[in-house]
Amino acid sequence: MKKILLINGSGRKKNTYHLLKSIEEILINEIFETEIVNLYKENLEFCKGCEVCILKDGCFINDNCNEIMKKILQCDGLIIGTPVYLNNMSGILKNFFDRTCSWFHRTPVYQKPTLLLANTQGSGIKTTLNSIKEVMIQWGVCLTGRVSRNGRNFNKPITREEIKNFITSVNLNGFGYTPSFKEIYTYNIQRTLANNIFPIDKKYWEENDLINNVYFKSARINPIKKFYGNALYKLLCKVIKPIENLK
Ligand SMILES: Cc1cc2nc3c(=O)[nH]c(=O)nc-3n(C[C@H](O)[C@H](O)[C@H](O)COP(=O)(O)O)c2cc1C
Repeated sequence: MKKILLINGSGRKKNTYHLLKSIEEILINEIFETEIVNLYKENLEFCKGCEVCILKDGCFINDNCNEIMKKILQCDGLIIGTPVYLNNMSGILKNFFDRTCSWFHRTPVYQKPTLLLANTQGSGIKTTLNSIKEVMIQWGVCLTGRVSRNGRNFNKPITREEIKNFITSVNLNGFGYTPSFKEIYTYNIQRTLANNIFPIDKKYWEENDLINNVYFKSARINPIKKFYGNALYKLLCKVIKPIENLK
């Protein structure tokens, strides 16, 4: 049975949670197994900014972060929900993303079907969902859609129609995803950093057979995007020079 992980980025069990519950109901009808993680209930410390996770891997903070990351890694589909705080995602969710910073460079969750959810009293849906999308592009997930509610329609449950692309993508294991130019651009920036800057990234990108591709392998790339990715990578490798004595 496919498992879907739903993340509640709110500081409480209210609007975001109820919307996630309405999605959960649809998923259970589709015979998916589900789990909701309420980030505010987890023992999650703030990122200390040491950059060890980027340069060496792992995090010295002993809390629930690794466990949540493992759940994301193991699920077949991911749903991330947040309330809008000051026209952006909640601080709890942002801190969680900060704690996953190694995935910016060395993502193990690529091609995971993902759905984004935001809700607000009135403003900030677009900026909030775009902020989360930026992180998701770095993770290399399959962006299968976004759903939102506001003060006027909080009580309207999410419908199957709104999440049908997500369900299809989960059933296909993310296979055949068509990345945008921006996703290919981002991939090739990290590909360059792996090749020229960070030895630990290079090892990861080589071991996972990522370094010779313009995007993650199960994606659908047309010849124009392939040309664009390879040309960009060649150019970036010339511009972004290796740094001497990088520790
Ligand atoms: C700290 C904070 C900041 C907020 N900022 C905004 C905002 O910028 N725009 C807006 O329309 N609503 C804002 N809201 C309202 C919430 O987005 C809204 O009530 C949301 O439904 C709360 O979801 P929740 O019940 O899951 O926490 C804010 C609420 C809080 C607590």
